[in-house]
Amino acid sequence: MLVNGIKMLQDAKKGKYAVPQFNINNLEWTKYILEECNSNNVPVILGVSEGAGKYMGGFKVVAKMVEGLMEELNINIDVCLHLDHGSSFEVCKRAIDSGFTSVMIDASKYELEENMRITKEVVDYAHERGVSVEAEVGHIGGSEDGVSNEVYHATVEDCVSLSMTGIDSIAPALGSVHGLYKGLPNLNFERMQIINETLAIPLVLHGGTGIPDADIKRAISCGISKININTELQIAWHNAVVEFVLNNKDVYDPRKVIGSGQDAMKKAISDKIKLFFNR
Ligand code: 13P
Repeated sequence: MLVNGIKMLQDAKKGKYAVPQFNINNLEWTKYILEECNSNNVPVILGVSEGAGKYMGGFKVVAKMVEGLMEELNINIDVCLHLDHGSSFEVCKRAIDSGFTSVMIDASKYELEENMRITKEVVDYAHERGVSVEAEVGHIGGSEDGVSNEVYHATVEDCVSLSMTGIDSIAPALGSVHGLYKGLPNLNFERMQIINETLAIPLVLHGGTGIPDADIKRAISCGISKININTELQIAWHNAVVEFVLNNKDVYDPRKVIGSGQDAMKKAISDKIKLFFNR
């Protein structure tokens, strides 16, 4: 069923596991993610960045595509359709009005007061419509969809203040980066644990690509209930497609070219499921 993210993340916080957010970029990826999560019987969050939403033809197309795939493929698990890093109230409103069940408002580039003001506006609009809200504080580093950031760790006080807006989950920047890490990630586990013990809402870890398994497990034990993965799926798919194209230069059917990344992507998804759900 298409659901918001509230219960699935609260269950994860209680059960000490993490729900994956896999970012989608096209119909094929959405299909692979839905099929693999359904066959493992785990809930999933489909993350859609503003850029990916535009690429797929707009939020309405994405929502209808997800609804259609779920029906045609007999998907029985809980699926949350989530806007990733919504940059303004207007963008979040468009996603909500198009049928998204969850949004992230990322006003972390503003001072805390302005971040809180924009986040509260989104919370009020979303909650009236049964849609869940994630917000960010501090700066997650790296770059995603051409948007770059320096790392700046969230403080416990800032997390408490942002949570007062009524958000359903929070992404405190604690050293993770989007895309590939330069060197090894250095996550602030101590602060993660304190924030988790201080707040009732679930914590989200962005920049899941490239974090060693042991650190992922530790993050989950410190209270992380949702982990976002984008680049790792892109790399798994890309490597398989490059190999296929180099070995099959005369194949031009796009279904075969795009589909040659299916097994590698499903394997990457299934590896993350084992790790995040402690299987
Ligand atoms: P990665 O691309 O590093 O996996 O990060 C994904 C993410 O955090 C999306 O918001």
